[in-house]
Amino acid sequence: MEEAVKKKVDIHRGLVGVYFDRTKTTFINGKEGILEYRGYSIHDLAEKSTFEETAYLLLYGDLPNKVQLQGFDSDLKSSRDIPKEIIDIIKTIKDSHPMDVLRTAVSALSSFDPEVSDKSAEATLRKGIRLTAQVPTIVMAHNALRQNKTPIPPNSNLSHAANFLYMLDGVEPSESTAKLMDKDFILHADHGSNASAFAARVSAGTQADLHSAITTGVAVLSGPSHGGAAENVMKMVKEVGSPENAKAYVTNLLKSKERVMGFGHRVYKSQDPRAGHLKEGVENLSKEMGQPGWYEILTAVMVAMKPYQRRGIHVNVDFFAGVIYHLLGIPTDLFVPIFAVGRIPGWTIQVVEQYNNNILLRPLLEYTGEHERKYIPVQER
Ligand code: COA
Repeated sequence: MEEAVKKKVDIHRGLVGVYFDRTKTTFINGKEGILEYRGYSIHDLAEKSTFEETAYLLLYGDLPNKVQLQGFDSDLKSSRDIPKEIIDIIKTIKDSHPMDVLRTAVSALSSFDPEVSDKSAEATLRKGIRLTAQVPTIVMAHNALRQNKTPIPPNSNLSHAANFLYMLDGVEPSESTAKLMDKDFILHADHGSNASAFAARVSAGTQADLHSAITTGVAVLSGPSHGGAAENVMKMVKEVGSPENAKAYVTNLLKSKERVMGFGHRVYKSQDPRAGHLKEGVENLSKEMGQPGWYEILTAVMVAMKPYQRRGIHVNVDFFAGVIYHLLGIPTDLFVPIFAVGRIPGWTIQVVEQYNNNILLRPLLEYTGEHERKYIPVQER
């Protein structure tokens, strides 16, 4: 007993650098800043693909042909509506944070999915497609209901990204705006064993169903170190106010040992390969909208953070996303839900992979508390 207590164990706090399984979905080389979905470079997908095509690729392993893509697109479009009961639940909790509402609504949707307890790969993929289609509707229905407005029903003439923006205000977005949103969803579609996907796998490891796993994913994504960074970047950009203030602002943050939001990454120790695509997007959009100031502040913060690149702290995808969403007229508290909208295919395929070669994820904790304490009855304490 005494010996077991004293035995030295290797502790990998935060599971940093620990491989816990294998995947065929997403490849990340953090040192060189490489990201691939199913062997395709994120750069090719961001520039040439669509969210629908990328989601199909993640879920089924190959790029779809024309007929497969049409079928997948029509499955997504025909699954966008959400039951009236979900709308009623959203109404009841409409004053909560959109991520809390999303988590509750995804969980409640399990009661209405005809295949909820079927954990076969085929049924899980079908449920993943339905959730991919329903999550944008939940987010935008809540956004309308909390303003005491009637939700704008999904528009089946529009792509996934264009429909998402359409449900915000009933206005069809321009082609370039829809493309930028589409690109953002592609860039967020999967990212290996990040905290929310890992949590979804832990859930699937117990053989919980997809709705449970995705509810877990949404819950974990809501934390500021994961999904919340874009929202915090927007807050920071507003506080900085103008490019001249960026250096002093960043210096003050770092002096007080605070983090600069939108910088740093657990895996990427060079530039996040997703970031460049949104950098270009925010530059064009802020010029197009006659508001170049936002991009100028971002650039000034990047310049101020340059010395930290030596320590592996580079700009990440969320640094640019926030300003893009702001320019598109999206309320700040919807920034994390947008991440979730893009991430459903990723969570789904991670769950399918987990089921395919399942094992309960159950690591150990080294006990460092006391032993052999004498129990004293409550009357004597
Ligand atoms: N600003 C300033 N310093 C940072 C930093 C940031 N954004 N990110 C990391 N660092 C510093 C840490 O303070 C730490 O310094 P120290 O060794 O002197 O203590 C060092 O870099 C390593 O940080 P660590 O917390 O071990 O890295 P991590 O891998 O655990 O953290 C994040 C990764 C993402 C949680 C972290 O970079 C962060 O909080 N970034 C801001 C939030 C963000 O943008 N999240 C979105 C990620 S896509």
